[in-house]
Amino acid sequence: MTSRVPKGDALYERALRTIPWGTQTGSKRPAAELRGIAPPYIVRGKGCRIWDLDENEYIDYKMACGPIILGHAYDRVNAAAMAQMASGVVHSAAHPVEVELAEELTRTVPCAEMVRFLKSGAEVTSAAVRIARAHTGREKVISSGYHGWHDWSLPGTKGVPAALHELTVSVPWEAGKLEEALERHRGQVACFILSLPYDRTEEEIRDFLKAARALTTREGVLLVYDEIVTGFRLAMGGAQERFGVVPDLAAFSKAMANGFPIGAVTGRRDVMAAWEGVSISSTFGGEAFSMAAALATVAELREKRVHDHLWKVGTRLMNGINAMGSDLGLGIRAEGLAPVFSVRFEGKDAEAGRRLSVAFQRELLTRGVMPYLVWYITYSHSEQDTERTLQVIREAMEEIKRETKNA
Ligand SMILES: Cc1ncc(COP(=O)(O)O)c(C=O)c1O
Repeated sequence: MTSRVPKGDALYERALRTIPWGTQTGSKRPAAELRGIAPPYIVRGKGCRIWDLDENEYIDYKMACGPIILGHAYDRVNAAAMAQMASGVVHSAAHPVEVELAEELTRTVPCAEMVRFLKSGAEVTSAAVRIARAHTGREKVISSGYHGWHDWSLPGTKGVPAALHELTVSVPWEAGKLEEALERHRGQVACFILSLPYDRTEEEIRDFLKAARALTTREGVLLVYDEIVTGFRLAMGGAQERFGVVPDLAAFSKAMANGFPIGAVTGRRDVMAAWEGVSISSTFGGEAFSMAAALATVAELREKRVHDHLWKVGTRLMNGINAMGSDLGLGIRAEGLAPVFSVRFEGKDAEAGRRLSVAFQRELLTRGVMPYLVWYITYSHSEQDTERTLQVIREAMEEIKRETKNA
């Protein structure tokens, strides 16, 4: 089969000689089964559209793995960042924009009485954990979900010292299992840090968060939300606003500046006060153009009531996918929360489910839709884009149905 992305493939081969993995982000490595179909490089984006190195166009639902919430190259945000850049990027003392942004976040995020800025999701979740340890004087962490690549969060993986393994205890999204872990490690746990799963209903999530809040309070353990994905996406104030359950600390990154690199740790004043005795400092922590971009992003999200749009578009897509999946008798189902939902593939066994997922991705990509593990909706996905996407999904599912019949 001839590649539909020959220039991209050739550059990726070249990259593999100088860049381990060939790229900086695990989720941007082209899957072996999609070589010649999935573009290894995107060179341009505007709104919800992106173009690869071979000039193929896509409606994007991967959205750079989550940072884009308004749309690619969004004019208001880019203008704010560029205006800031004209007077310097990072300075010899703090820039006033960081005070403005910190105050904005205290108005926007329910748990935020104080705020510190860093650059990435892994950095802010790691900082939150260190602050929790400093505040409580305890070392163990109970964790649910992915929180980035730093040592504390990946016990048992290659390159992470064995001495750290027993300090992080992983639990699934189950109140009973959390309670068991809290009891087993009583008196040793600094915090329970969680990120939301992609396959639960709102009710299931609310119930678990309520249980986690009650259990951690009972055990004197801090509750930390990893809002890297959910922050600014489910609501202005993230999952804690949407579900009305407030943590002690929370970490934000991805969408808060519509693609500019920034992260924030927010939390209760008495807990954040532990920062005084802790060494968490960063040369680029106060970099100003991402902060200007964050201020513009937050203003636009609020003024345009962007979350209403994200829930509406996401719900339309989820309902459409589920109706077509059941119409055609394919094991393809959208689930989770509309602004960032996931698509599940089920066959007669795990391998059949995996093959269905690859076929779905192949058929969408060749028709100009970029899917992902989770579908990120933005303010730039219009009704017309949504309808076009559903039409592509129908054609893709019909093709898969034909193939399975003929196999
Ligand atoms: C829930 C969650 N937490 C933390 C991270 C780490 O963020 P970053 O890749 O910016 O370090 C990610 C990244 O995908 C994430 O999904």
